[in-house]
Amino acid sequence: MKGIVKRFPGVLANDNVDFELQRGEIHALLGENGAGKSTLMNILAGLYRPDAGAILVNGRPVHFSSPRDAIRAGIGMVHQHFMLVPSQTVTENILLGLDEPRFLLNLKKYDQVIEDLGERFGLKVDPRAKVWQLSVGEQQRVEILKMLYRGAQVLVMDEPTAVLAPLEIEGLFTTLRAMVAEGKSVIFISHKLQEVMEISDRVTVLRRGKVTASGIPTEQVTREELARLMVGRDVIFQLDKQPQPPGELILQVDDLHAENDKGIPALRGVSLNVRCNEIVGIAGVAGNGQRELAQVLTGLRKCTGGSIRFKGEIINDKSPRCSIDLGMAHVPEDRTHVGSSPNLSITDNAIMKKYHREPISRGWMLDMPAASQFAQELKRAYDIIAPNVDTPARLLSGGNLQRLILAREISGEPSLIIAMQPTRGLDVGAIEGVHRLLLAQRSAGAGILLISEELDELLSLSDRVYVLYEGKIMGEVTISNGSDSSELVEKIGLMMTGTPLEQINEGIAG
Ligand SMILES: Nc1ncnc2c1ncn2[C@@H]1O[C@H](COP(=O)(O)OP(=O)(O)OP(=O)(O)O)[C@@H](O)[C@H]1O
Ligand SMILES: [Mg+2]
Repeated sequence: MKGIVKRFPGVLANDNVDFELQRGEIHALLGENGAGKSTLMNILAGLYRPDAGAILVNGRPVHFSSPRDAIRAGIGMVHQHFMLVPSQTVTENILLGLDEPRFLLNLKKYDQVIEDLGERFGLKVDPRAKVWQLSVGEQQRVEILKMLYRGAQVLVMDEPTAVLAPLEIEGLFTTLRAMVAEGKSVIFISHKLQEVMEISDRVTVLRRGKVTASGIPTEQVTREELARLMVGRDVIFQLDKQPQPPGELILQVDDLHAENDKGIPALRGVSLNVRCNEIVGIAGVAGNGQRELAQVLTGLRKCTGGSIRFKGEIINDKSPRCSIDLGMAHVPEDRTHVGSSPNLSITDNAIMKKYHREPISRGWMLDMPAASQFAQELKRAYDIIAPNVDTPARLLSGGNLQRLILAREISGEPSLIIAMQPTRGLDVGAIEGVHRLLLAQRSAGAGILLISEELDELLSLSDRVYVLYEGKIMGEVTISNGSDSSELVEKIGLMMTGTPLEQINEGIAG
């Protein structure tokens, strides 16, 4: 890609970008939130047209006016939000939109073709399964298969690991390696620098739409140097967390039971507590009840047994509004559907928990100037990058949307914050910012329940960590400044795979 320029109203998303990809390499594309990575790749995949610049494939200039053109030139992209039809099978999804087969009658033959293709690249998925039955990781495999089936020589993956569990990430890396071994190439976008160090051959870094490092061999850089190239300053990976005695009990959960969407028990007797001035972590592999726990605590899902006490009051049967009024904040896992309303403006999203109260509500009406002023203050204080507060939330980059949600939740001065994966998809600089915000809330007296799959994050922020496995708490560990982190990691790791703490301690004692 040569001299690519792409302008959106109020932003220069790509400012004269050069990008070079070689055959048989995994090339990482890095940059802060809003740096222009997805824009550049959407241009390469035929979704956007550049305002200036050229794309050359094997030395020949190409012009894409749709993703179909791009795939014809061998370029396929897997987006972060999958584009599959839930009610159709894997094979049907893969064949969708292709001229072959004319008649969907001999579909069985294609099941085998898809299965063989999956085998070749280590992409395990049942071709006959309906897409709605698949996990997120499996759906991603279908998206990759779809591109491979269409003959992709270049696969663009936009933050593929953000939605995967650690084991699934290993699987994806195996697939990517199998692809480059066959002479295909991969462009890999991720904010997780250790992944980039592990999987990529070369790295290109974007900052505010411009290239700051172009195709440097990964082995020649360190994680710290990459972070500096991305954000233009040093990033502190180790936070300093001041010891602080916990305050009074604010959340008490006893023997909580709940079912998941399929009606299967997801929480099976969870008991835990959170105090003021304390960050309590919940560790565990995704899908062990974390989502249901966050939903039940915030009133978005009914429990089937047990009790939740918030500030001494039982809230199991109360509405989310009641918890909000008592001072509960919620940073949900799903930013685009639960955390925000994509088609509403920054202002409308910012006032969502305040619209019924003065000064934003005035009798039966909204005081729009007051609302917009409030949103502008948040935008400034939390450094949300957008042309103005009337911008629809869907146009914000991932990191800026998360800042908006945090700004709304924290500005209400909550006494309890339920935060699920609050730093997923954020760049290293933004992660540092979120961690600071959470620690500041802890000092200010809030209790924080932090549900995360990032063990490093849990260990550096939490005062205590519970481990959730198949809807049960396997045990609890306390983290102090002097704790031996390798021993903690080992204990937590064992609990994450289903060994209760007592058993681990017995093992150590024996
Ligand atoms: N369709 C669009 N309309 C208007 N502005 C857009 C559009 N798409 C992206 N932008 C803006 O262009 C800039 C670059 O966005 P882009 O999504 O490419 O960033 P990114 O590097 O992928 O960030 P992230 O790591 O957060 O995903 C941002 O300021 C974003 O708000
Ligand atoms: Mg992006």
